[in-house]
Amino acid sequence: MQKLSSISQEIIHKIIELDQKFLNYFWNDNQWIDFLTNNSKDAYLLYNAEGQEVYSFALFLGNYADNSLHLLKVVTHPLKRGEGMASQLIKAAQESDVFKRPMGQGLKIFLEVSTMNFTAIKVYEELGFERTRYIKKFYSDGSDALEMLYQGE
Ligand SMILES: CC(C)(COP(=O)(O)OP(=O)(O)OC[C@H]1O[C@@H](n2cnc3c(N)ncnc32)[C@H](O)[C@@H]1OP(=O)(O)O)[C@@H](O)C(=O)NCCC(=O)NCCS
Repeated sequence: MQKLSSISQEIIHKIIELDQKFLNYFWNDNQWIDFLTNNSKDAYLLYNAEGQEVYSFALFLGNYADNSLHLLKVVTHPLKRGEGMASQLIKAAQESDVFKRPMGQGLKIFLEVSTMNFTAIKVYEELGFERTRYIKKFYSDGSDALEMLYQGE
């Protein structure tokens, strides 16, 4: 789990490329610039790379007030899907010690996912996420989202 601020420009460019090519609700260049300018110090990145290629990444925003991570995006290159890459990245976040937590307080990870994204919902449920809320018209095209929460030990 690396702070986004410590990631090289080269990797960040590859992450943005994966996002814009393969995510339905991707961020345009201005949204990425805005995020990198304003949120980079609280953001964490996990990624899978081989040589110069990045095949998968997961981007999180940390909230120190309640020991939570917001999973903003997870993407795997289509040629590498079904190999466990996304699950492995999310599992690493679940096991990370990104916050110094008082005894007995687990790390929470929450996310929103399109109600139509059955593959992603299945991945999250297999990793212990539970459905917490149905959010109508969450996305820019008016489609609905599920909010899901993982509550660590
Ligand atoms: C959702 C997503 C990140 C999963 O990535 P992944 O690296 O393929 O995930 P995993 O390999 O860990 O798990 C994929 C599951 O899909 C299934 N799967 C198998 N082969 C697959 C394939 N060729 N393509 C897609 N899914 C496949 C498997 O059932 C697997 O579940 P399993 O662990 O029970 O076998 C990926 O499909 C993706 O990038 N989708 C587009 C972006 C997106 O929707 N992101 C989530 C919302 S932010």
